[in-house]
Amino acid sequence: MATMLDEPTQTASAVRMDIADGLAVIRLNDPSRPVNVISAGLLAEMTAILERLEDGEAGVRAAVIISEKKGTWIAGADIEEFKHFITPADAEAASRAGQEMLNRLERLDIPVVAAIDGAALGGGLETALACSYRIATDSPKTKLGLPEVQLGIIPGAGGTQRLPRLIGLRAALDLMLTGKQLDGRRAMKTGIVDEVVPAPVLLSVASRVALELADRTRQAKAGRATGSPERLENLLPMRRLIFSKARQGVMDKTKGLYPAPLRLLRVVERGIDKPIEQGFALEAQAFGELAVTPEARSLVHVFFTSTAAKNDPGLQSQAKPKHVDQIAVVGAGFMGAGIAAASAESGIRVRLKDVKLEAAAKGLKTARQSLKKRAERKRMKKYEVTKLLDRVQPTTEYTGFAASDLIVEAVFEDLELKHRVIREIEAATRGGIVLGSNTSTIPIARLAEAASRPDHVIGLHFFSPVEKMPLVEIITHAGTADWVTATAHAYAKKIGKTPIVVNDAPGFYVNRILSPYMAETALLLQEGVRMEELDEAMTEWGFPVGPVTLYDEVGLDVAQKAGKIMAAAFATRMTPSDLIDRMVAGGRLGRKNAKGFYRYDGDGKKGGPDESAYAVFGTPPKKTMPAEEIQERLGLAMVNEAVRTLEEGVLRSARDGDVGAVFGIGFPPFRGGPFWFVDTTGAAEVLRRLRALEQRFGGRFAPARMLEEMAADGRRFFPEGA
Ligand code: 3HC
Ligand code: NAI
Repeated sequence: MATMLDEPTQTASAVRMDIADGLAVIRLNDPSRPVNVISAGLLAEMTAILERLEDGEAGVRAAVIISEKKGTWIAGADIEEFKHFITPADAEAASRAGQEMLNRLERLDIPVVAAIDGAALGGGLETALACSYRIATDSPKTKLGLPEVQLGIIPGAGGTQRLPRLIGLRAALDLMLTGKQLDGRRAMKTGIVDEVVPAPVLLSVASRVALELADRTRQAKAGRATGSPERLENLLPMRRLIFSKARQGVMDKTKGLYPAPLRLLRVVERGIDKPIEQGFALEAQAFGELAVTPEARSLVHVFFTSTAAKNDPGLQSQAKPKHVDQIAVVGAGFMGAGIAAASAESGIRVRLKDVKLEAAAKGLKTARQSLKKRAERKRMKKYEVTKLLDRVQPTTEYTGFAASDLIVEAVFEDLELKHRVIREIEAATRGGIVLGSNTSTIPIARLAEAASRPDHVIGLHFFSPVEKMPLVEIITHAGTADWVTATAHAYAKKIGKTPIVVNDAPGFYVNRILSPYMAETALLLQEGVRMEELDEAMTEWGFPVGPVTLYDEVGLDVAQKAGKIMAAAFATRMTPSDLIDRMVAGGRLGRKNAKGFYRYDGDGKKGGPDESAYAVFGTPPKKTMPAEEIQERLGLAMVNEAVRTLEEGVLRSARDGDVGAVFGIGFPPFRGGPFWFVDTTGAAEVLRRLRALEQRFGGRFAPARMLEEMAADGRRFFPEGA
């Protein structure tokens, strides 16, 4: 939007208006972009159309806005243009330009119906809010929301003022603070849209409604907040309560690290009782100030890097992916059931195999429970749910495997067992089927040794719990064929995950950078730093959970095993303290047996630190360490390791490194990922700080060579303004 005020650069038309029988159909289809966005060009074209309508063009009595882009109505403001915002005034002006266009749309003296099929997000939904009536389709691609806070900003085209006035304060705050996206049906329930129809009849229904509104044979519904001052939430004490609860919720969730949601609350609170124009002014000012914050720049970076990782497997060749419509999963345990459910939810048929029928049935039950829960949330019809659940079929045989496009093995983490399973799969199938392994620690090249078609073998590393974790790490070994990588990548994207493709190496990428961070945590505990101090320091830095809690969640036995593998490969940096060994020997496995660093009640609910754990690792807590020191040691250990993986070619790009860290580990999104962190902190500064740590603690903090080179040359991982 930065250049909303500039001359539009595109030449081909993104907006077309057809007029017949008093109805104007405004069709959006930007030929230069995969999705419609409110770019400078689109804004100028829309403004020109509004001028024609304001001038009473050819007896037009009503209008419909519809998109000809499959899958999107309007995806919001053009986020590319945010990169050109230098000062708050730039961004504020852009917001004002968007508001002005939508105010003109709202003030037209003809009714305008938003006919929404596909995504109506951010400025897209704000456009719909300025229309007189909204109709959405029941297509799964239709989603409505204001995701701006996820980009470190707030809605800047009137959304903070129009939405609460339309659907009420509480519902509007919920949408704007979470950025959640609603399908057509839920949007109707919330009061955002007036009607839901099947896509094929959208235009005809919208046209009829528009003309009925013009003829006054139909009334547009009034918004709830403006239309009904008697509503409970309009009473001052209730308002205060809503805002204070919302503020508390934001603080609990973000620890105040993200300025946008807090600012959003202020803008809504101050604007709600004022004439709407004053609310718009507050919104534009806040949008301007937020858009140039480091947090917003990092979050925009996360948006572009993750979208790029999703759309580009980073292959040198033009290898085409195979369609994945049917898969088989071997091992119906915790991960296998999760992979089966995530695949079925995206329309893929799944054969779920285990050794014994009971195990396969248990996996099926887990998968079905997860699918049912999600179906309920989506308010799916009964027949749709049955169809969904039927996509997963349990088995103890390899029958039907030959018809799969891709197979994932998720049996126990045991090389010999996995070798045997690979041989069995190959015996039951012919070539042309991707053979993915969900191993967390075994090198993919070692697994491929058992295969007669090693070029079909690839790592497909999911994270737990599969239904929640957005990342899939795809690991190629030297002989993996490009079509296999392309297919694995396309499959991960199809099931709604964000994939990164990395090369085979101990720990791959995600566990590799986690490893020194976890090893350093154990050392700090050994030094006598209290567990909750460590956790608090890292959640204050922006991680969703602290590292001691993470030990408990992952399971100390699993962490111990992984730690030893990593120590064998990178002894100087990752040799773990024997504290974890002692915890495991003392029967402390973490959450799974309700005995770890923390206490757990009968229902598995986490309590405070388990003081008796200190006795197990032999060091009474004695130190209070400044949070900054903890953050420096843990944060920089991870960042330095990430740079090493790029230097060694485990990572193909810094982009994938940032995506993997943010989506796989929860590296603070407002810091943009380890590579963005280096760019924004400055390679020279990171180097200086690592050297200081190296002096104090020795070789494990020795800076990556690439960091030294970058500091010397003043280079960055991402071009300035990227
Ligand atoms: N601005 C610029 N580029 C955008 C964009 C946007 N708002 N939305 C999508 N794109 C680009 C993507 O970067 C991608 O580019 P590429 O082809 O070069 O990789 C391309 O469009 C296609 O996007 P996806 O691969 O993500 O396509 P999908 O079909 O999977 O998803 C989508 C479509 C649901 C619209 C998804 O792209 C999306 O969520 N977009 C962002 C939505 C958003 O955050 N909107 C709010 C913007 S801020 C705003 O509106 C401020 C306002 O209040 C003033
Ligand atoms: P799990 O123990 O829950 O499940 C393993 C399943 O494999 C069991 O149901 C078992 O009966 C089955 N199985 C064993 N031999 C088999 C055979 N020959 N044929 C068919 N099924 C067989 O284990 P989990 O946690 O699901 O792990 C599976 C794999 O995923 C392991 O390689 C693990 O390292 C990896 N992984 C695990 C993660 C986690 O958080 N649990 C995260 C990422 C990867």
